[in-house]
Amino acid sequence: MKQVNKAVPTIVVIFGGTGDLTKRKLLPAFYNLSLAGWLPDEFAIIGLGRSEFSDPDYRTHLYEGLTEFSRTGQPEKKSWEAFNGNISYLRSDINDPAAYKRLAEKMDALDQAWGLRANRLFYLSVAPQFIEAVTVNLHNAQLASDVEKDHIIVEKPFGKDLETARSLNKLLTQHFQESQIFRIDHYLGKETVQNILAFRFANALFEPLWNRNYIDYVQISVAEEVGVEDRGGYYEGAGALRDMIQNHLLQLLCMVAMEPPVSFEAEEIRNRKADVLRAIRPLTHEQVTRYAVRGQYGPGWQQGKKVPGYREEEGVNPGSNTETYAAVKFYLDNWRWQGVPFYLRTGKRMQEKTSSITVQFRPVPHSTFSSTMAESLLPNRLIINIQPQMDIRLRFTAKRPGLEMQLTPAEMVFDYDNCSTQTPEAYETLLLDALQGDATLFMRSDQVEAAWEVVMPILETWESRPSLEFPNYPAGMWGPENAEALIARDGHTWTVTNYYNTQ
Ligand code: BG6
Repeated sequence: MKQVNKAVPTIVVIFGGTGDLTKRKLLPAFYNLSLAGWLPDEFAIIGLGRSEFSDPDYRTHLYEGLTEFSRTGQPEKKSWEAFNGNISYLRSDINDPAAYKRLAEKMDALDQAWGLRANRLFYLSVAPQFIEAVTVNLHNAQLASDVEKDHIIVEKPFGKDLETARSLNKLLTQHFQESQIFRIDHYLGKETVQNILAFRFANALFEPLWNRNYIDYVQISVAEEVGVEDRGGYYEGAGALRDMIQNHLLQLLCMVAMEPPVSFEAEEIRNRKADVLRAIRPLTHEQVTRYAVRGQYGPGWQQGKKVPGYREEEGVNPGSNTETYAAVKFYLDNWRWQGVPFYLRTGKRMQEKTSSITVQFRPVPHSTFSSTMAESLLPNRLIINIQPQMDIRLRFTAKRPGLEMQLTPAEMVFDYDNCSTQTPEAYETLLLDALQGDATLFMRSDQVEAAWEVVMPILETWESRPSLEFPNYPAGMWGPENAEALIARDGHTWTVTNYYNTQ
């Protein structure tokens, strides 16, 4: 993976072309790739949707999205004009085979004009109930029949439990080869997440320490400030465990815990990650109350503004049992990690937006220093800040300058802000990989199913026993008290950004 070269001639077809994802993420990503010179001359985007748009109207609609959401801001006239000629719109009903005929004609016309058979990338940015129709119709119309050149990208949610994920995998693999299917998890495209692999496997320094002999515990925390926004309808059927832990947080866990891959081949990396998921000790239903905590936000204050509780959000059942916060402790049954707890937590309407991984090393085996000298002797700790702060910080202990021998915590920091290049958005990385046919950062069917297997006992327990405590944390706080207890029982606390050197 990652030997990046300009993409080959490609037609991108977006099912859900008028949706939010296209406007906020996909189009800005393609545009920024084009600005940076990654896209070939023979490149086209065809957006599909039910609304009525002429090509120029569709382009204007996307332009507005770019202005609002692209990391590079409002497009410059010249570069937008060079880019937007590649975009067209096809009004279509995705259940109707005739729509696929029209799509075929459009793609054939482009191929003819370019004098080649371009690669095809079908982006399924549609609600789960439409995936079957698109898959079957694409197959019947033979639009993705070139196994080498044609790929489909499937957005999450990838099933709503193990059973539905299995059926979805079955459906997709009946119509496409596994190598054609890219299941996207946008966390894997984040710059800081990819850097975990470089950090671990391009430095000789850390790997010898990266195991149960030196590491006390690991925390993976993804806190969001936003509530469910306008996605109440979707979120009601999801919840934090499905929405974040099953995919994003377990993927982060894989990056931290995987064995060193032999090479950077897609299958090799994916095999090592799948091994981690398989090593996670399954929870019994009885263990769920001790190892997992759920929460739901009530009304509260954020940034000086009063915000409603989850049950008051639009599209949400006023007696909802859906969790907006989840914390889980996992153990991995393998030689490297036996006995090391991995604490995962995520929540909406938390005090601040911050995602980080904390690797806490064991304390020194013997304290050479007297208790007064070593008042602030803390174990070494590595923090990988994923967003919005992006850095890697290693805490160590040093002598405080002065006449006395007094210890103090110090830090070595790698800060992305000091790098000159602009950090690409996750979707830029992932779409470029998809254009190049590189599946390394996408999820294989077995990985998705293994991740569902991990969360199923928790899901089942929570669904069968509605919470009597909800809402159990006010918006603007760090989640329910039980989550503090989950980690405090082992003598630890959740890492909080402002207190790096006192915890
Ligand atoms: C999505 C979830 O996958 O990730 C959202 O469905 C969540 O609920 C989002 O807000 C978080 O992504 P990011 O990149 O903002 O951390």
